[in-house]
Amino acid sequence: MASRLSMLLLILAAAATTAPAQKETRLRLYWHDVWSGGANNATVAQVVRPPATSPNATSFGSVYVIDDPLTEGPNLTSSRLLGRAQGVYISAGKDSLSLLMAMSFVFVDGEYNGSSITIVGPNQADRRVREMPVVGGTGAFRFARGYCQLRTHWFDASTGDATVEYTVHIRHD
Ligand SMILES: *[C@@H]1O[C@H](CO)[C@@H](O)[C@H](O)[C@H]1NC(C)=O
Ligand SMILES: *[C@@H]1O[C@H](CO)[C@@H](O)[C@H](O)[C@H]1NC(C)=O
Ligand SMILES: *[C@@H]1O[C@H](CO)[C@@H](O)[C@H](O)[C@H]1NC(C)=O
Ligand SMILES: *[C@@H]1O[C@H](CO)[C@@H](O)[C@H](O)[C@H]1NC(C)=O
Repeated sequence: MASRLSMLLLILAAAATTAPAQKETRLRLYWHDVWSGGANNATVAQVVRPPATSPNATSFGSVYVIDDPLTEGPNLTSSRLLGRAQGVYISAGKDSLSLLMAMSFVFVDGEYNGSSITIVGPNQADRRVREMPVVGGTGAFRFARGYCQLRTHWFDASTGDATVEYTVHIRHD
């Protein structure tokens, strides 16, 4: 019995020393949904229109594809491009404007160039702070799990252009 217990303790100790310590990373990025500037400059495209029965206020059923710039600071033209948010969002709320977002942040510069994280979750547009899960990652962010918080930094109702601040908190290998 005693030897079994010490064997178990040995195995547990070995497991504890070989398990890689998880890192914690916090990032702040600015995400830009650009509708204006003509076909060459728009970074978002509506690929499915809402069905005729959809409430107009929420565009329920619409699908959008994005390749949105992610910059270090809030100004799209003067700030460093760190990555691109590539994916889709779907208008999934019938009674309020709520999106289901599924996108990867693909880093193209800075210390995470070549790595990515994937975010999937609800974006309830009427809330000042929205939160979505980070469900995975590649490269520097393998085995990533975490969450991000979104705050609208700027919105132009005439064009639909928006800049959203993302603070991302992840644990990863
Ligand atoms: C895209 O934006 C650039 C820089 O603002 C501008 O010079 C160019 O004309 C725009 N392209 C289109 C198709 O509007
Ligand atoms: C949405 O707006 C369009 C155009 O104004 C109108 O024809 C349609 O009936 C509206 N749909 C609903 C469900 O209210
Ligand atoms: C963004 O940067 C450009 C170029 O430096 C500048 O002209 C513009 O005024 C800035 N925009 C804002 C909102 O600060
Ligand atoms: C990012 O990584 C790619 C692929 O390794 C490389 O070609 C590119 O020059 C890098 N970009 C920067 C800004 O370092």
